[in-house]
Amino acid sequence: MMERIEQAAAALARLGRPEVAVVLGSGLSQVLPLQGERTLRFSDIPGFPAPTVAGHAGEVAVGEVSGRTVLVQRGRVHYYEGHELGEVVFPVRVYAVLGVKVLVLTNASGGIAFGLEPGDLVLLSDHINLLGGNPLRGPNLAQLGPRFPDMTAAYDPELRRRAREVAWDLGITVKEGVYLATTGPSYETPAEIRAFRALGADLVGMSTVPEAIAARHAGLRVLAISCVTNLAAGVSPTPLSHEEVIVITRRKAGELGRLLLALIPKL
Ligand code: HPA
Repeated sequence: MMERIEQAAAALARLGRPEVAVVLGSGLSQVLPLQGERTLRFSDIPGFPAPTVAGHAGEVAVGEVSGRTVLVQRGRVHYYEGHELGEVVFPVRVYAVLGVKVLVLTNASGGIAFGLEPGDLVLLSDHINLLGGNPLRGPNLAQLGPRFPDMTAAYDPELRRRAREVAWDLGITVKEGVYLATTGPSYETPAEIRAFRALGADLVGMSTVPEAIAARHAGLRVLAISCVTNLAAGVSPTPLSHEEVIVITRRKAGELGRLLLALIPKL
């Protein structure tokens, strides 16, 4: 596995040496244009998994934001596509070997907490892993990190503070919440959402948690920003649809893009 990770990192190193990586999720892949960007499709990076879902482009770009070299991953692979969790987090491990220190994860989510509305941007303060698995299961990659990584401050409080500050300066409202990851691909039932709320979840989605775990294992600092695309099942009076998710994220993309552009120099 380490050899595969190192090969992919060597391929990406030809694009540059970023210290910040940003993963753009469902409907968000176009929010962050880079200056002078060099791109590689997932399929052209040795060992990278192949995404299959609509709205996920599947490319890695390296370029500059305010003079800072940044890597942007447009699209991701999900557990529900059939990939093992180790494959889902493969890109994150590659970025760690490449020298990335800060990982920004974005996603689309359903709002569980009362008061959340479609279009809200929410900084993840913590997560609940209900995927039924952990990407670190199996032999520990000791070159990357320890067997039993601490997850106390998985979502870096200082990075969150800077994100709130930048959002405030831009007049963008950001909230905070706990994200619960389910496997999908079916959306939740109303009973599941009531259960998740009782567990302490504010948001529900099908990504981000594996990547955050792998990033913490490898010592990366993590900031995660969720775009609430819909009220979760039963909270919303209407059925859920992937099209709705894509439409709301596209509508919110401009604001998220402005936030990321202003924030990146400060990460
Ligand atoms: N549930 C799970 N994942 C999601 C949702 C949802 O309601 N909305 C966007 N991603």
